[in-house]
Amino acid sequence: MEYLSISNSNLSVSRLALGLMRIAGKSVEEAEKLINAAVELGINLFDHADIYGAGKSESLFGEVLKRNPSLREKMIIQSKCGIRRGFYDLSFEHIVGSVEESLKRLGIDSLDILLLHRPDTLMEPEEVNKAFSYLDNQGMVRAFGVSNMNPMQTELLQKSVEYPLLFNQLQFSLVHAGMVDSGINVNMTNSRAVDYDGNMLEYARLKNITIQAWSILQASKGEGTFLDNPNYTKLNERLAYYAEQYGVEKSAVALAWILRHPAKMVAIAGTTSPKHLEELAKGVDINLTRQEWYDLYLSAGRLLP
Ligand SMILES: NC(=O)c1ccc[n+]([C@@H]2O[C@H](COP(=O)([O-])OP(=O)(O)OC[C@H]3O[C@@H](n4cnc5c(N)ncnc54)[C@H](OP(=O)(O)O)[C@@H]3O)[C@@H](O)[C@H]2O)c1
Repeated sequence: MEYLSISNSNLSVSRLALGLMRIAGKSVEEAEKLINAAVELGINLFDHADIYGAGKSESLFGEVLKRNPSLREKMIIQSKCGIRRGFYDLSFEHIVGSVEESLKRLGIDSLDILLLHRPDTLMEPEEVNKAFSYLDNQGMVRAFGVSNMNPMQTELLQKSVEYPLLFNQLQFSLVHAGMVDSGINVNMTNSRAVDYDGNMLEYARLKNITIQAWSILQASKGEGTFLDNPNYTKLNERLAYYAEQYGVEKSAVALAWILRHPAKMVAIAGTTSPKHLEELAKGVDINLTRQEWYDLYLSAGRLLP
C-alpha cells in the first residue's frame, strides 16, 4: 500500500480508502471480514457519514471494533455530516449533534477526520468555526475537511475556519471526470469545456487540499458500475487490454487511472466484497504511462480538442 502525507497535519493516509456507505445490510461477520481484509491490505482510511444506512453503517462498524479493539489504532476514521432529510444543515447544533451521535454509534472517543458532506447555502463560516473549535476542544475531532465543495465555497469557509481544510471529497472516475475535461477543453465551446466545479482540481493542488475520489467505478445514475457495462464497450476493451498487460483485473486499472493524476488523490472503494477489494488494491502499484492514461481517458468517449 502507498501512503500520502497530508500537509498541515500529521496524517498519513492510504491511497485506497474503504467507504462504508453500502455495508448496512451486511451481517457483523461479513462486515468484520471486509474490514479485516482492508486492514490486511494496508488500508487505514475508513469513510463514513452519519446518514449511511440511516446510521446502521456506523453502528455495524462499531460492533466490529468492539469485537476487535486492536483494529482502532490501525485506522483513520472519518465521518461526514450536514445532509438531513430534505435539506442541508451546517449549523453549530447539527454539526456537533451529528458528531456526538456518530461517536456513540462507532463506539469511539474521537473522529480522526470530519468532513462537511455538502455545501449548505445557508451556512455561516463563523458558526462552522465555532462548531469545529468546540469539537476540537472537546477532543471529539482531530482534523477537518469538506466534500462536494468548489474552491470559492472552500475559501469562504477557510476565511473564518481556523483549522486547515485538508480534504475535499468529490466524485471522480474514468467516466465522471469533469474536473479533468474542463481543463483539457479550455476555451472550447463543446460540452466538455463546461467547468462544473470552479477548477477544483487546480485549486486543490495550489492549496495542498487532498481530493478524495468517490464512486470510482460507478456509471451514470442507475446503471451500476461501468465494468462489463455494454454502454461502455470501448472503455472496457481498453481496461481489459491493460488488465492483461499488468496482470490485474479491470477495476485495478480504473483505480490506477485515478491515482496516476499528479493531484495525488485518495480513492474511496465502495465495495462490500473482500475479493473485489483485493483486486482493486493491486491498482495502487500500477504507474500508468502518460500515453496509457490518455488512451483510457479517450476510450470513455472523449476527443482531444
Ligand atoms: N461525499 C459524497 O457525496 C459521497 C457520495 C457517494 C459515495 N461516497 C463515498 O464513496 C464510497 C464509494 O462509493 P460507491 O460505493 O458509489 O463506489 P464504487 O466503488 O464506485 O462502487 C461500489 C459498487 O460497485 C460494485 N462493484 C461491481 N463490480 C465491482 C468490482 N469488480 N470491484 C469493486 N466493486 C464492484 C460493488 O459491488 P460489491 O459490493 O459486490 O463489490 C459496489 O456495489 C462510499 O462508500 C462513500 O464512502 C461519498
